[in-house]
Amino acid sequence: MHLVILGSAAGGGLPQWNCRCPICFLARQDSNRVRPRTQSSIAVSPDGERWLLVNASPDIRQQLFDNSALHPREGLRHSPIHAVLLTNGDVDHVAGLLTLREGQPFTLYGTAGILDSVNANRVFDVMAQGVVAREPIGLDAAFEPVPGLTVTLFSVPGKVPLWLEDETMEIGAETETTVGAMIEAGGRRLAYIPGCARVTEGLKRRIDGVDALLFDGTVLLDDDMIRAGVGTKTGWRMGHVPMTGEGGSIAALSDVVLGQRIFVHINNTNPVLVEGSAERALVEGEGWTVAHDGLSLSL
Ligand code: MLT
Ligand code: MN
Ligand code: ZN
Repeated sequence: MHLVILGSAAGGGLPQWNCRCPICFLARQDSNRVRPRTQSSIAVSPDGERWLLVNASPDIRQQLFDNSALHPREGLRHSPIHAVLLTNGDVDHVAGLLTLREGQPFTLYGTAGILDSVNANRVFDVMAQGVVAREPIGLDAAFEPVPGLTVTLFSVPGKVPLWLEDETMEIGAETETTVGAMIEAGGRRLAYIPGCARVTEGLKRRIDGVDALLFDGTVLLDDDMIRAGVGTKTGWRMGHVPMTGEGGSIAALSDVVLGQRIFVHINNTNPVLVEGSAERALVEGEGWTVAHDGLSLSL
C-alpha cells in the first residue's frame, strides 16, 4: 500500500492567510524553522496506479500539482484518482470538492451523515449528477473504493462541522459526522483519524496492531489557541484531543501496538511545528512523527 500525506495542516493551513502568530510568522520567514503546510488530506493506493483521496482540502489543486503520481496519465482528460472519501464535513475536508469539477468521473464516499451536508449544499452540484456518483457508506461495513483497497469507516468522538454548529450540538458524541477510516491492502493496515475529540477504549481496540496510525495532531495542549493569544477555543471545543496534558493522545495511545505513529491535521498554533523545538523533541521522544506535506510511506 502506498500513502502520500498531501496536506498535514489543520483548517487554515500554515501559514494561515491572516495569522501573524510566531509559527505562521516563521513559516513565511524561514522554511528551515517552520515548513509551510497545506490543509488536511491524504492519498492512498494499493498499486501506485489507482488512488483514493481521503478528504478534499481547499489546497487540493496545489497538492495534485505537487504530486506527479496524481497527474493525468493518458488521453486528453484523465485522472488516477478513482474515488474520494470524506471523514467529516469540515471546510478543510470538503472545499476541495469544488476543484474536482470539470466532468471527471469518480465516486464520492462518506457516511450518510457527512454526505447529507454536501448534498444539502447546491454549490457542490458542480460535481455533475451522472458524472460523480455519491455513495453513502454505513459504519463498520467494508467497501472497496479502489480495486485492491478495502476501507471500513468507524465512528470516533467528534462533533458536527463548525459551519453546521447550533445550540443542539454535542461535543464528543460518537455519530456519523466524524469518522476514522481503516484502510487495508496487501495485508497491511492503515488507520486514518484526522479529527478525534477523545481517545476511548473502543478506539484503542480498533486500531491495535495497525502498521501505521495517522492521528489528530491539531493541538499540543488543550489551550494552545488561548496560549497563542489567537482565540478562545479549546481543543475539546473544536473536537480535537490534545497530544499532551489531561487525556492527551500520546499517553492514551502509549500501550497500543502501532507500527508507526504520525500526527496529521496540525494547527498552525501547535509548537511541534517548529523544527528543533523542545515540543518537537518531546513528541518524537515518545515515538511520534510530526507529518509534513509530501511525506510518503510504503506499507
Ligand atoms: C477543525 O478541524 O476544527 C475545522 O477544520 C475547523 C474549521 O472548519 O475551520
Ligand atoms: Mn479540520
Ligand atoms: Zn498562526
